[in-house]
Amino acid sequence: MACDCDFRKFVEEARTCRRFNQGAPLSGQDLDWLVECARLAPSARNQQELRFITVQSGKTLDALFPLTKWAGALKDWGGPAEGERPTGFIAVLVPENAGELIFYDAGIAVQTIQLAAHSKGFGCCIIKSFDVKKSAELLAVPQGMKIALILGLGVAVEKRVIADIPENGSLNYWRDADCVHHVPKRPLEALLVARF
Ligand SMILES: Cc1cc2nc3c(=O)[nH]c(=O)nc-3n(C[C@H](O)[C@H](O)[C@H](O)COP(=O)(O)O)c2cc1C
Repeated sequence: MACDCDFRKFVEEARTCRRFNQGAPLSGQDLDWLVECARLAPSARNQQELRFITVQSGKTLDALFPLTKWAGALKDWGGPAEGERPTGFIAVLVPENAGELIFYDAGIAVQTIQLAAHSKGFGCCIIKSFDVKKSAELLAVPQGMKIALILGLGVAVEKRVIADIPENGSLNYWRDADCVHHVPKRPLEALLVARF
């Protein structure tokens, strides 16, 4: 069945989000629903080896937040301030001994969650930069598994827009005086190597 929405526009708006409404925390059901969407995503050889840990507001979330690193390119910003912090996390686990195919699965799963989150007005930040050891201890990651990515989630308050690449060619995102977050994307013609 065709979807009655402008999917390109939807994807354009589903940008990484790093500022959230902490006063409207995500519920456990919200987080379960996001994992449910990832459950239905494609999986190499349909092995479905990813596992997930959800963290909603509370002590564990408060302890996990400082183990995550946000927006390395914004040098004068120390990450989401109190009041704008994520209100949920989802850790994506992979088997320690898995082959490279598992990382395709992980990528598909996190983008599925990011799009699912956007469909509900939630923002999502995929995070690879986190304290691997402390996060695994805190979340009691089962033996034989490791955390591949952590998703920071919450009701989105940050305005994010796509930008053209500036003349100096930098791909760094930036924030303007109104705190709007700009993300430069290469044009279609730069990506399409050939058309046969
Ligand atoms: C695999 C991966 C790892 C990422 N790790 C981080 C991270 O550790 N911290 C962060 O703030 N953003 C992280 N991001 C978000 C990227 O910075 C973001 O996708 C990029 O700036 C482009 O913005 P966009 O998602 O709005 O297109 C990550 C994204 C991906 C796909």
